[in-house]
Amino acid sequence: MALTTLAYISEARPGLGLRELKQILRRSREHNHRRGVTGYLVFDGTHFAQILEADDSVLDPLMLTIEGDPRHHDLRLLLREPVIERNFGSWCMGCANLAAPVHLDTSELRGLISDVIGQGRLALTDAVDFFQLFVRFRTPEQAALLSL
Ligand SMILES: Cc1cc2nc3c(=O)[nH]c(=O)nc-3n(C[C@H](O)[C@H](O)[C@H](O)COP(=O)(O)O)c2cc1C
Repeated sequence: MALTTLAYISEARPGLGLRELKQILRRSREHNHRRGVTGYLVFDGTHFAQILEADDSVLDPLMLTIEGDPRHHDLRLLLREPVIERNFGSWCMGCANLAAPVHLDTSELRGLISDVIGQGRLALTDAVDFFQLFVRFRTPEQAALLSL
């Protein structure tokens, strides 16, 4: 058993909308719950950023599946590191959808995504901080929108 954290950023297929995002989440939550995968997904309308936590033996095949998914491309790995404990243990796959209208100024969060895209690699603490920020800014509207 080797718990590993992995984070990546990718470009969403043009035109990908809420319906597809919900499909991704529904499937992810079913699968992840069964396989002990936790994490968080951020979608800003053009890019995905995802952090995943799982045992190595689960993470490797899952990443192959995710990489081959036609709903996104240009996947860039930001981090892959063994960890002692989970940082997103309560999320089968949490999600922040910045493309949806929310009563929240998301410009700062969007700026953060651009920063992350510009960076080649992320340190574990920076990656965790980045995704935790979206957890913290989660609004009831967001939760309702993405509770499937
Ligand atoms: C951005 C993105 C993130 C995804 N995250 C996960 C995930 O965390 N877990 C998962 O099982 N599938 C995830 N998927 C979906 C997989 O690529 C794949 O479609 C799914 O596992 C196939 O499930 P099925 O064979 O039951 O249809 C993700 C897809 C995308 C585009």
